Amino acid sequence: MASLSPLLKQATPVRAVRGEGAYLYDDQGRRYLDYTSGIGVTSTGHCHPRVVEAAQKQAGELVHGQYTTVMHPRLPELVEKLGQVMPDGIDSFFFASAGTEAVEAALRLVRHATGRPNVIVMQGGFHGRTMGSLSLTTSKTPLRAGLQPIMAGVYPTPFPYPLRYGWSDYETSDFCLRELDYLLATQTAPSETAAIFVEPILGEGGYVPATMSFMRGLRERCDRHGMLLVADEIQTGVGRTGRFWGHAHFDVKPDIVITAKGLASGFPLSAFGASEELMSKGWPGSQGGTYGGNAVSCAAALATLAVIEEEGLVENARRRGDELIEGLTAVAEHPSIAEVRGKGLMVGVEFANNGTPDGEAAAKVQARAAELGLLLLTCGPYGQVVRVIPPLITTREQVADGVNMFAQAVREAAAA
Ligand SMILES: Cc1ncc(COP(=O)(O)O)c(C=O)c1O
Repeated sequence: MASLSPLLKQATPVRAVRGEGAYLYDDQGRRYLDYTSGIGVTSTGHCHPRVVEAAQKQAGELVHGQYTTVMHPRLPELVEKLGQVMPDGIDSFFFASAGTEAVEAALRLVRHATGRPNVIVMQGGFHGRTMGSLSLTTSKTPLRAGLQPIMAGVYPTPFPYPLRYGWSDYETSDFCLRELDYLLATQTAPSETAAIFVEPILGEGGYVPATMSFMRGLRERCDRHGMLLVADEIQTGVGRTGRFWGHAHFDVKPDIVITAKGLASGFPLSAFGASEELMSKGWPGSQGGTYGGNAVSCAAALATLAVIEEEGLVENARRRGDELIEGLTAVAEHPSIAEVRGKGLMVGVEFANNGTPDGEAAAKVQARAAELGLLLLTCGPYGQVVRVIPPLITTREQVADGVNMFAQAVREAAAA
């Protein structure tokens, strides 16, 4: 009998057969509050009627309008729409399917456009699992183990994670910027460095928001040295953090924005945007793919963006996020919790035991929460952070429910 690869593991034992809004239902009809959003994907919730309708209509007209062969109408429509939500000056877009492909595409562009070989990445960053993006990824060792050596020319620099360093935000940011300058003076000269890749909020690496001074410091160094600033907004984008893009919290403008996940509410679609001037410095023939910009995914993305705008979901993410952080902070009085942090509906709860990251405690809470009907994920190099990622449509009542189940899971996991 054939079997699913044992290398694919599920974080919960739930067998989901149906999704609606913030809820998943299993084959017994049991309801779960899905605060994983399929790893930050179901921005408009599961099966939003308008997204479903748009995808069904498109599937009946044209599924695969292969974009290096023909142009299908949803593609220019989506380009137009993305241009409206991107920062000023980012007006040219390339499309792929998975996040990692968009990261690889951006990597190709920064090397071609600058003629420089190296890139700087954040320690703890996650950018994907294919060889190029994996080489930019330092969120935990099992991702690279047994696969090294990987692509050369990648230089990690410290990301401001005040809890880990035990310093204030200011001290940590200052240290990180000094280390970046040192890296540029000792390992990768600016003239050899094409770009700095950053997640405005470290995702898989532990749900750690950057700081304003750090992000501004990155922008200043990029401007000074002719390097490009690439914001990987695959997890932080499309309203997740209570602003349309995560970098907007820090008042900096990147040269390239990468997006995926929440963009099409669950249909596979990724993209990166840059100015037309920058995009045209890429080498002809360097970008393409079979499935990129799939017509059904583009139709779902157009519906997603319309729903986000018309239902005020960015503002909802901000308001519900404030309530979520407030509720979880009250739970954080429990001695197993070291910190609650995040922005909007991208919230992490870090577990520690006498100052040491405690992945076991986080795993117990995640497992108990699933039994109680609340789906959560963990992240961080030690699995020490429980991350709470509701869909942007979540309600005040659901947030209160989620916080109550989380509090019960923390109490019961500690007593077990
Ligand atoms: C910030 C970031 N970049 C890239 C990726 C890779 O995206 P995908 O899994 O769609 O390849 C992820 C996925 O979690 C991510 O969070």
